[in-house]
Amino acid sequence: LSSDSCQNPSQKEAQASSLQVEHEAESLSCTVLLQSFQTLFERTLKEALHPLQEKHQHSLPASEACLPPVFTRYHEGLRYALLSPGKRFRPFIAYSVAQALRANQENLQWALSFGVALESIHAFSLAHDDLPCMDNDELRRGLPTLHKQFSEWEALLIGDTLQTFALHHVLHDEKIPLGLRLWASQCLTQAILGPGLIEGQYADMWFSHHEREPLPKSLQSLAWIHRMKTGAMIEASVMLGVAAGLWPKDIETHPTAKLLHQWGRCIGLLFQLSDDILDATHDTHTLGKTAGKDASQHKWTYVTALGLHEARAQQTLLLEEAQACLYTLNHQHALDTLDTLHELTTFVAHRNQ
Ligand code: IPE
Ligand code: IPE
Ligand code: MG
Ligand code: MG
Ligand code: MG
Repeated sequence: LSSDSCQNPSQKEAQASSLQVEHEAESLSCTVLLQSFQTLFERTLKEALHPLQEKHQHSLPASEACLPPVFTRYHEGLRYALLSPGKRFRPFIAYSVAQALRANQENLQWALSFGVALESIHAFSLAHDDLPCMDNDELRRGLPTLHKQFSEWEALLIGDTLQTFALHHVLHDEKIPLGLRLWASQCLTQAILGPGLIEGQYADMWFSHHEREPLPKSLQSLAWIHRMKTGAMIEASVMLGVAAGLWPKDIETHPTAKLLHQWGRCIGLLFQLSDDILDATHDTHTLGKTAGKDASQHKWTYVTALGLHEARAQQTLLLEEAQACLYTLNHQHALDTLDTLHELTTFVAHRNQ
């Protein structure tokens, strides 16, 4: 018998409620760290857009006087998609992982630059995910979605821009060693089509259009889709933080990198699983996006497939698996700088946005 099954119900309840208090405290402390990171990062994000803007201000032929106003609107759209108030969670992961690996100031700047690319790909994925031909959403980050504020064709082209801009930004950042820029670009393309985000989104859409097809749908397949559509970018965020922290060590074979990668796989899936739970349990105002969309659009999610209770049980299992990776790093690899990563893990499961 495990010690757990020897406990009486009131002991179990007390343990669960003290764990809950611990989780709430960790999640709150992550929220505070995240807020101060947002202020630092958003400056970097705004600056990163300048070269694009200057290109259209200064390099259009003087004879084409009608074009600058056209591109003024294009830049408004880019800023709207990229700078609207998101959590900046992927850049925060990259930065926190680099910090946990005791990165110096120069390496932390690399992590911020990778953060720009991650956030740009993320913004592209949201712009397209919200389109009427996909999830048909009207609200994102508490504001009208990009295609509602602008138009569908603009949301499409701005999304395209953001995806390529991410790679352009990393490849042209001369402060980063060339080898690392190439490694980071490969890591990002792997997250998009490794298989990755696009295949995950394709499968997600396919199942929402074919919900009645009699297919043997397994939990493994659902986890795969979640890992692809959302997890791949979170894993990439972890690995870019690892690269910023460990470069020029061999990231593919380094034991710390392997464990952090495993942790990234867990929190990636956990992030989307929690998104499924939030969609079913929170209101539109709190989420800043339309609540209850998954059921109404026949999405295949942990909640629609398993019910809320079992989805929460899976969430707890994944949270424990993710924390176990960090404990191993701490105890077997003597890495004692993992507090933020512990807090970040709890936040992924207990966030309310
Ligand atoms: C929303 O991601 C889309 C998913 C992958 C579930 P976030 O929850 O990180 O959204 P923002 O960037 O904070 O708006
Ligand atoms: C989106 O998943 C994942 C992306 C790659 C954008 P969802 O469709 O569940 O994300 P939300 O709920 O619209 O943010
Ligand atoms: Mg979607
Ligand atoms: Mg959606
Ligand atoms: Mg969702």
